[in-house]
Amino acid sequence: MCGIVGYVGSAPVAATILESLRRLEYRGYDSAGIAVLNGHGIDVRKRAGKLKELAAAVAARPLQGRVGLGHTRWATHGAPSEVNAHPHVDCAGRIALVHNGIIENYAELTARLQAAGHRFRSQTDTEVIAHLIEEHAKRLPFPKAFRAALQELRGSYAVCVVAEDEPERLYGARHGSPLIVGVGRGEAFLASDVPAVLSHTRQVMYLNDREMVELGRDRLRLTTLAGTPLRRNATRVTWDVAAAQKGGFRHFMLKEIHEQPHALSQTVGNRLDARAGRIGFDRATRQFLDRFTSADKLAIIACGTAYHAGLVGEYMLEEFAKIPVDVDLASEFRYRGPMLDRRTTVVAISQSGETADTLAGIRLAKAQGARVLAICNTVGSSITRESDAVIYTHAGPEIAVASTKAYTSQVGVLTLLALHLARQRRQVKEPQWRDWLHTLARLPQLVERALKAEAAIKRIAKRYAAAKNFYYLGRRYHYPSALEGALKLKEICPSIHAEGYAAGEMKHGPISCIREGWPVVVLALDSPVYDKVLSNIQEVRARRGSCIVIASEGNRGIARHADALITVPRTPELVSPILAAIPLQLLAYHIAKWNGCDIDQPPNLAKSVTVE
Ligand code: G6P
Repeated sequence: MCGIVGYVGSAPVAATILESLRRLEYRGYDSAGIAVLNGHGIDVRKRAGKLKELAAAVAARPLQGRVGLGHTRWATHGAPSEVNAHPHVDCAGRIALVHNGIIENYAELTARLQAAGHRFRSQTDTEVIAHLIEEHAKRLPFPKAFRAALQELRGSYAVCVVAEDEPERLYGARHGSPLIVGVGRGEAFLASDVPAVLSHTRQVMYLNDREMVELGRDRLRLTTLAGTPLRRNATRVTWDVAAAQKGGFRHFMLKEIHEQPHALSQTVGNRLDARAGRIGFDRATRQFLDRFTSADKLAIIACGTAYHAGLVGEYMLEEFAKIPVDVDLASEFRYRGPMLDRRTTVVAISQSGETADTLAGIRLAKAQGARVLAICNTVGSSITRESDAVIYTHAGPEIAVASTKAYTSQVGVLTLLALHLARQRRQVKEPQWRDWLHTLARLPQLVERALKAEAAIKRIAKRYAAAKNFYYLGRRYHYPSALEGALKLKEICPSIHAEGYAAGEMKHGPISCIREGWPVVVLALDSPVYDKVLSNIQEVRARRGSCIVIASEGNRGIARHADALITVPRTPELVSPILAAIPLQLLAYHIAKWNGCDIDQPPNLAKSVTVE
């Protein structure tokens, strides 16, 4: 992962780079560094720990210059120490670079360069790029040396480089990791993601794989890695930087939880065409879906939270549209030899649009002739560009590492997709269809009501905050809810172990651990399997486990089976996974808060996983 930034222009370089890095900290935050061309040479500062350590180091010994680059790291090769922090420099300290990705052949390149006399300082896979450029620069001018070095790399990278011999230039290239150019007036940026540049410019150009760019204050030269010049216009970003700030909430996660009614009105509400009685996907998506035949099947691929959304989608697509669906973790899909062909539509779900395994799954699917539909939140991301069609979730920027509004928006899109295909395949009668649309139109209000339980959830969280283990149980649509609830808690509260299970599986193992007071969050919303879930609650309580039950409002009987009760509005099962997500998110948030956890940036995690 990691976030990278480069700047050329006349603003104070260190302050500008630090501000941009702050907006990329979600990509990694275990160490950070900055390098500036100061007119005499390259000045580098690095620190282990979060960005504020680096900012303090820069404040203590300021950096001057007009060109520079910076990095916030999520370690893959080498511990998160000062020496392994980026930027990395060549032997002579005349070239500095930052990198996001993994160089797979770094060991063999390092051995070759060491034999040629290069001295390495770090344990990273990145440092080798600086030495490789240095080696090529012995006989080539800098841009050519940079290109020659890139051509020797295997793996993934977004890199940004400065060199003493090119005092007014910033160079960047990408292959498999995201990189954008922010085009300003008399200044330019390179960055891993758009929020890094938004307070300076809204004009953004997206780089594709195997492209490189040379930037000056008023210069932008885009080429392929082979050197062929390319022309591309910058696009204007329409959302603003305020959308990526906390807006009075203590954490991004809480802000994003509370943004769900709005996000869902963008994702779902805006696509309901009540008058025409249809779901208003854009034309390209409709045309893509129109080509779906009765012989087709679906394969959903995703990672993390998006995978849980995919599992909900599987239940809905099979139940409503009667389409066979497989759901895979993208990291397994790509290596298990899936059987795909032209009759398979792969649905790739991703908030960031940059997850390496999901992207690799898409490439594999396309190579086997399958069509790819992306469900994605990030406009212009790699996954959207490599897919045949895209349904955007339009949830707005999600900054907290633990995904909340992106998840419910993904489930929202999958619900629309299942219903649209149900109608296209004549699996639904008119009254039922109207009912569905009516329920979906109320979704933002229903979520607003579910959020009102926060005060009660906060009290429950306090009661259970000291527990060390949690189980989450659910059936049907709420089996994925249970997985997602447990993931939320373990993501943001590392001192707690949490596992989600299909409630029917409890007797096959997990129940053996239950003892007095062991908290079990049970999803017992109205559904055809409600009675079975009730039995599972009895089984837990018979072993003196403590059940935190999430049920539908108006269920009078449930209170006596619950040690703690949270209710959500009573709705058709169709939208219940979205409603159930709200208390699960709030419960995880408040338990983590009582435990004093670093909620937006939990240790060892990153928002965007652009390495395998
Ligand atoms: C990381 C994030 C998760 C996310 C997963 C998949 O693990 O921390 O929040 O669910 O990646 O990311 P994607 O961007 O593909 O949805």
